[in-house]
Amino acid sequence: MALPRIILIDDNPVRGQQFLAVIQFLEYQGELYSAEDFSEKLHSVDDLFAVFVGAGVDKQATVTKSVIELVADIPVILLIDKGTLLQVPSVIQNLVASIQEWPVTYTVLMDSLQALQKQKENHVKHVSIGSDNKGLAGSSEAIKQVRFLIDQVADSDATVLILGESGTGKEVVARALHKASSRHNHAFVPVNCGAIPAELLESELFGHEKGAFTGALAARQGRFEMAEGGTLFLDEIGDMPMPMQVKLLRVLQERSFERIGSNKTIDCDVRIISATHRDIEQAIIDNLFREDLFYRLNVFPIEMPALRDRVEDIPLLIKELVARLEKNKRSSVTLAPDAINILMQHTWPGNVRELANLIERVAIIKPNGLIGVTDLPAKFRQFTVSDEIIVEQAQDNFLELVQEMEDKIEQEVLQKVFSAQLPEEGMDLKEYLHEVEMSLIKQALDECNGVVAHAAKLLSMQRTTLVEKLKKFDM
Ligand SMILES: Nc1ncnc2c1ncn2[C@@H]1O[C@H](COP(=O)(O)OP(=O)(O)OP(=O)(O)O)[C@@H](O)[C@H]1O
Ligand SMILES: [Mg+2]
Repeated sequence: MALPRIILIDDNPVRGQQFLAVIQFLEYQGELYSAEDFSEKLHSVDDLFAVFVGAGVDKQATVTKSVIELVADIPVILLIDKGTLLQVPSVIQNLVASIQEWPVTYTVLMDSLQALQKQKENHVKHVSIGSDNKGLAGSSEAIKQVRFLIDQVADSDATVLILGESGTGKEVVARALHKASSRHNHAFVPVNCGAIPAELLESELFGHEKGAFTGALAARQGRFEMAEGGTLFLDEIGDMPMPMQVKLLRVLQERSFERIGSNKTIDCDVRIISATHRDIEQAIIDNLFREDLFYRLNVFPIEMPALRDRVEDIPLLIKELVARLEKNKRSSVTLAPDAINILMQHTWPGNVRELANLIERVAIIKPNGLIGVTDLPAKFRQFTVSDEIIVEQAQDNFLELVQEMEDKIEQEVLQKVFSAQLPEEGMDLKEYLHEVEMSLIKQALDECNGVVAHAAKLLSMQRTTLVEKLKKFDM
């Protein structure tokens, strides 16, 4: 069996060879690329275990960002010179799987690779629940339909257009489609057509020859070439300038193109998936989008439902998003049932992205904490806990998640009881004691099959005192 691959991107070949020697010793297959030629030379992410971005890389942060874009879910590890951690921008710190100081010892490297392996195994377990291995959490009819469409179209080379509001998961679907297709061993190359200035977009897509225009100091491969054999994801296609639309149409018709400044025609075998949150049909009426291009792109449309139309998926999405937080080793949170209930009443104009941001935000405000209704931002507090939601909309998902969260809370409380230690950030002693008390009372009641008199005896208190407490805690 092939050894799992580890890539190092480093501009210092001596250091690179040292690293490869260690990697080989640990029974991985190592590959060394320079920052310059990485994207050109990486043909497949199959069997790729991790990518290291070396300490000898110029503009390390920028390189790291584009590596992450290219390899998607594969962990990226940053190597830095000793004592330079503070110079790594926090955005990058949050994006990478870990940061290590160079020179790195065998043991440190081995430990971190083992930790990655564990995380991978855990993640596989997590994503397979309710998300069908596609990273697409949800069990609503709407999301089932999307999964069905993905399965239907994945293996053909049909051009797919993904429509839907911002944050509904269009990119998630594009990646899932690529993964499910026979092209999954080749690259998935995303291009955000709205974010790249019009004058650079052509060279970004088709590449250029040396000297093709001022500033073109070296020849450069475009995204079409990078995606050869794989999938090109044209995101925000609705924002593509008209002149580029003409050029793109030509490539779609002829399946070939030229780099800027070259007259050599390059044939391409690339599957095109595009996405937009815009109303393209309106854009056609307004003369902002070419109708002929639209028909070429819209061979197989997939429409992403808004989150407000599938609130029953919120518990599963929360579970997936919390699992993702844990996987990225940042921290975790537990949402109280009331809080989840209230989140299911919000209209979510920012869709799943808004929910993902909320989960990250509460995890920062209360790391590893229990999030109740009062911990949610003010806009959610206008809602009150509604029984209807539990009964009508989301029985299974909601109850299952509530049970899991409750178990988690109970375990955490128990752990605290046995190892009471003041956390670094301080704590709310009253709330803590309250949690401990509730948990112990609940256990006593469970033990005594709900007979209050017996439970009171177990807790060495008067029956009336226990009854008082049950009333007070609303138990
Ligand atoms: N079904 C899902 N399961 C898990 N995570 C999801 C799901 N849908 C979306 N997400 C997460 O929500 C965020 C937004 O998703 P994505 O970027 O795919 O949306 P988008 O439709 O492309 O948005 P935009 O139009 O703003 O680019 C991402 O963090 C993504 O991982
Ligand atoms: Mg997007």
